[in-house]
Order: sequence, then C-alpha cells, then structure tokens
Amino acid sequence: MTEGFADRKLIGVNGAVVVACLGAAVFALFAGGASAQTAGSKHDLGTAGGAQQKTDLTTEVCVFCHTPHGSDTSASAPLWNKNLAQPGGGYQRYSTLNTSTLDGDEAPVGSVSLACLSCHDGTQAMDVLINAPGQDGYTAGGAQFDPAAISTMTGTPIPNLGTDLRNDHPISIQYAGGGCSTTDTACTNLGDKDFVTPATDLINNVQQWWVNTTATGSTTGREKTDMILYTRSDGPSGLTEPFVECASCHDPHEATVQPVSFMRISNQNSAVCLACHSK
Ligand code: HEC
Ligand code: HEC
Ligand code: HEC
Ligand code: HEC
Repeated sequence: MTEGFADRKLIGVNGAVVVACLGAAVFALFAGGASAQTAGSKHDLGTAGGAQQKTDLTTEVCVFCHTPHGSDTSASAPLWNKNLAQPGGGYQRYSTLNTSTLDGDEAPVGSVSLACLSCHDGTQAMDVLINAPGQDGYTAGGAQFDPAAISTMTGTPIPNLGTDLRNDHPISIQYAGGGCSTTDTACTNLGDKDFVTPATDLINNVQQWWVNTTATGSTTGREKTDMILYTRSDGPSGLTEPFVECASCHDPHEATVQPVSFMRISNQNSAVCLACHSK
C-alpha cells in the first residue's frame, strides 16, 4: 500500500515478471515488506512505534498522517489527517540568505512539504488529528489525541527544523533554475546546466517529472526510489514546472535506507546529491 510508485513499476516496467509469476505471491511479498517499513519506525507514533514520543492509546500507524475520510485538502498532500499551515505562511526561506549562486525561483512553501512541516516545524503537537481512530473521532479544526503522551517535536535544529528554513536545503524550489515546463516537457534547455535532466510523463493528466536513479536497477518509469519532483506553477515565469520538495529526497514510509531513515535511496557516496546535481 505504501508502494504507489513501486506499483507503477510493477505494472509498467516489470509487467512481464508479474504476469509470469502469476501476481498474487509477488504482490503479497511487496505489501508485507511495505507496511513493515513504516510500522515500528520513527514515523510510527502508535504503541509499537519507534517515534520520539508515542501513545499507548492506539496500535494504528497511518492515522498520524492519513485518514480515509475528511482530510485537509488545502495543499496537495495525500488524505492528510493534520491541519496544514497556509501555503507560504510564516516560514523564513532559503532564498533570503542571498547566496550569489542560486538560480531557481522559490514558490511559497507548499505542496507535500507542508505535510512534513505539519510535524517537523515544531508548531503543532504531532498527534493533532482531524479524524482520530474510531467512531466519532472527527474534529474539523483538529484535536490532540493523547496530550498526556505526545506534544510538539523536540530537538533543534534537526529533526525539529523550526520555521526558519534558511539553514535547510531549499524546498519549494524550481528545479534547475527553470527550463522544464509544460511548454518544454523534455527540458531541452535547463536554466542551470549543472543539473541532471529529469524524466517526464503525463500521469493522471498532469505532467510529472522525476530524476531517475538506478537504485532499483530500472531507469524507466517513475518509482519511489527516483527523486520525485512536484508539479507546481511558478509565479515569475507563469509556467507549470517541476519543484523540489521534502519528499523529493525523502520517502516517509521507507525506514531502512541510510544514513537516516526515510531516504528515497542510500546516500552512500553522496548518491542522493548526485542524483540531481552534476558535480
Ligand atoms: C509520518 C507521516 C506518514 C505516515 C505515518 C504514513 N504516511 Fe503515507 N504518505 C505520507 C506523505 C507525506 C505522503 C506523500 C509522499 C510523496 O509525495 O511521495 C504519503 C503518501 C502515501 C501514499 C501515496 C503515495 C505512495 O507512496 O503510494 C500512500 C498510498 C500512503 N501514503 C499510504 C500510507 C499507509 C498505508 C500508511 C500506514 C502504514 C502510511 N502511508 C503512513 C506520510 C505518511
Ligand atoms: C506525524 C508527525 C510527522 C510527520 C507528518 C512527518 N514526520 Fe518525520 N519524523 C517524525 C518523528 C517523531 C521523527 C523522529 C524524530 C527523532 O529522531 O526523534 C521523525 C523523523 C524523521 C527523519 C529522521 C529519521 C532518522 O532516522 O533520524 C526524517 C528524515 C523525516 N522524519 C522526514 C520526514 C519527511 C520528509 C516528512 C514528510 C514527507 C515527514 N518526516 C513527516 C514525525 C513526523
Ligand atoms: C535535497 C534533498 C533533501 C531535501 C529537499 C530535504 N532533505 Fe531532509 N535530509 C536529506 C539528507 C541527505 C539527510 C541525511 C543527512 C545526514 O546524514 O545527517 C536528511 C536528513 C533529514 C532529517 C534527519 C536529521 C538528523 O540528522 O536527525 C530530517 C528530520 C529531515 N531530513 C527532514 C526534512 C524535511 C522536513 C524536509 C523539508 C522541509 C527535508 N528534510 C528536505 C536530504 C533532503
Ligand atoms: C531532487 C533534486 C536535488 C537533490 C537530490 C539535491 N539537490 Fe541540492 N538543489 C536542488 C535544486 C533544484 C537547488 C536550487 C539550485 C538553484 O536554483 O541554483 C539546490 C540547491 C542546492 C544548494 C544551494 C545552491 C545555491 O546556489 O545556494 C546546495 C549547496 C545543494 N543544493 C547541495 C545539495 C546536497 C549536498 C545534496 C545532497 C545531500 C543535494 N543538494 C541534493 C536539487 C537537488
């Protein structure tokens, strides 16, 4: 279930393999591996979890981030069970450091990054949920599930990044200083040539981009082990373009890849950095 991108790979790339093995066993294997990755990890705030703070009031894992009904839709985070900050709201941005080399436009802090920051900026208790487990758990404005056990994230500046994002890798940042857009989907003229040219496809009627890695041996199709770029509109150019967000580098379900949990690929030999930057 946590393997959306891998699912696409199963169907789109390894279709022949799945058919040859007659499906069920292969899917069972992948499904089991996937839920084991989040359960027990630092992103599991339930009884069996490895989070810095956890509650004994539920064994559920996904509920601290997702709800099947009544989610916050103010940013494009999937079925998000926590209140999201207003896009842009209250964050200090990397660009205000004024490094002389930055080429990309910054969009307001938004997209999936707001979902991460709904815990990682330390402003909201990590168990404020819109739809708590069980019947009648819904509170439109969100309510804390177990105030006795869980509060805001601790640790500074990491993992509690705070709202000052000037000391963090840029997010909501245009990929490669522009040159990729719905008017040039193949990115033939990247604004900053020191970037790897992303792959692209029209998925669910939206132009999507990602940077292929060879971590799973495949270089075609979008997989969760690729660096995922997020399609947003760029204010200055007025074009629809790929942006780098927290989840470009991180997969919030994958607890096994090093050096810290929740990397899309291992950063051995700086593979994460070199996936995008040609250095
Ligand atoms: C700590 C927060 C967190 C927890 C816990 C969590 N998720 Fe997610 N999930 C996210 C975020 C953030 C995204 C968007 C990621 C992206 O853009 O790639 C996401 C995306 C997804 C997606 C769609 C993309 C994909 O990878 O297929 C599915 C399905 C999903 N989660 C299922 C689950 C299930 C099932 C659980 C419980 C086992 C779970 N998640 C636990 C944060 C979480
Ligand atoms: C429900 C709250 C919550 C959300 C939402 C959330 N996290 Fe976390 N995250 C945590 C907690 C708790 C930890 C453990 C902090 C610690 O090390 O004590 C953590 C740890 C991490 C770590 C460090 C893991 C390690 O091994 O030290 C990374 C990386 C991370 N989160 C990335 C993300 C990203 C990226 C997103 C969004 C895609 C996200 N998180 C969303 C609660 C959350
Ligand atoms: C360009 C890639 C990239 C982006 C974008 C990114 N990170 Fe990370 N992040 C990393 C890498 C690489 C590490 C591991 C660093 C290390 O080894 O200490 C990391 C580490 C972390 C850690 C663990 C820190 C620690 O040492 O305990 C947290 C928490 C985290 N990231 C959260 C986030 C959140 C939240 C966002 C969005 C606001 C984000 N990251 C955006 C690449 C990225
Ligand atoms: C998903 C693609 C991606 C990954 C992975 C990535 N970066 Fe970046 N990085 C960017 C983009 C896009 C920018 C904005 C560059 C610009 O506009 O000039 C950026 C900016 C930077 C900057 C600031 C440049 C400046 O001029 O101020 C540094 C330094 C940097 N990245 C280092 C890293 C390191 C180190 C890693 C690995 C931990 C990493 N990046 C991983 C895409 C990525």
